[in-house]
Amino acid sequence: MTDIISNDGKLWTYTDKVKEHFFNPRNVIKTTEEEKRYDKEADGIGVENALPCGDMMKMWIKVSNSRIVDCKWRTFGCAVAMASTSIFSEKVIANGGMKIDDALCITAMKISKDLEELPTRKIHCADLVHKTFKAAVEDYQNRK
Ligand code: FES
Repeated sequence: MTDIISNDGKLWTYTDKVKEHFFNPRNVIKTTEEEKRYDKEADGIGVENALPCGDMMKMWIKVSNSRIVDCKWRTFGCAVAMASTSIFSEKVIANGGMKIDDALCITAMKISKDLEELPTRKIHCADLVHKTFKAAVEDYQNRK
């Protein structure tokens, strides 16, 4: 397989930023045990799927003083879905956490810009992140 797909992703057409987040995803939940713990501990949980492809994503948020202090995720999605969620989660929890309203303004196009531009046909993957985060916020607000 190494003749077809290089181990370092050099034959892959995404930007270095996409590759870097795909190979080193931030804030991803890796085990079922961790998922169960976050199911109990999270302040809001969102689950969504992407209509164009059928992939799905789950996101857990913790909120303090209207700021996102933790954002974890898991996806049955593509490389762009992973990279998009990774960079989004990193951004919203930076510096003590972004205000919810500001985080809700991070659209697919903004995620694309942060990843140094996604192909147009992959914008729906970044939109899956926005939709799932929005669902987690709605869940948080419904619990209050
Ligand atoms: Fe489905 Fe990217 S192709 S989320």
